Amino acid sequence: MQPNNRWHTLETADQVALAAYEQILKSAEQAIADHGTFKLVLAGGSTPEKVYRLLAHADADWSKWYIYYGDERCLPADHADRNSLMATSAFLEKVAIPDSQIFTIPAELGPETAAKKYQQIVASALPFDMVLLGMGEDGHTASLFPGHQHQEEELAHAVYNSPKPPPERVSISAKALSNTQQLIFLITGANKQEAVKNWRSGQDLPVATIIPENPIDIYIDRDAYNP
Ligand code: 6PG
Repeated sequence: MQPNNRWHTLETADQVALAAYEQILKSAEQAIADHGTFKLVLAGGSTPEKVYRLLAHADADWSKWYIYYGDERCLPADHADRNSLMATSAFLEKVAIPDSQIFTIPAELGPETAAKKYQQIVASALPFDMVLLGMGEDGHTASLFPGHQHQEEELAHAVYNSPKPPPERVSISAKALSNTQQLIFLITGANKQEAVKNWRSGQDLPVATIIPENPIDIYIDRDAYNP
């Protein structure tokens, strides 16, 4: 397990969302003061929605925010299960981040084409200022799944046979996700207990391949981890 992870255990999923929201805003202010932009990678799945709904009401210098996605499902751009659709309806359509600064993964083009296109976008973006990630019940993160092989030097991967539907996806690589100033994991719910235990016991899971230079902040509720 990464030696310097910071585990923040909170009572409820709402408290997890609020704590992460506060760190994101603080990180944005720091990054904008430091170099004039805030490059944020959004997590997929359902856990981050609470954070995105809080961000929708924040007072921030949105003109300096640049948005990327950690992964995307290969579905039509308007499909209800797209990570971009959830982030847009919960957050992005409610704030004044310029459309030209929101980099959606064109996953509707299929894994290979979309990964090649996103590889260029990630290459131009690195290093990120903050990456948000979730974790699945099997210890996956973004669309990096146990047992899947990828070219390590890639910045974006084409993903096939995902155990979590849909089978085809695009994921930013562990190498690129780790190239960030700050990184937050958002983990809630009793169904994540086993994966948390395995991660903490040092199992070689996809979550454990995300190793930024600085400590990782893991915001987790008591349902998912009750030491
Ligand atoms: C996806 C996500 C995936 C997600 C985890 C947790 O596209 O499904 O990127 O990595 O973060 O599976 O999902 P929940 O937050 O819904 O539990």
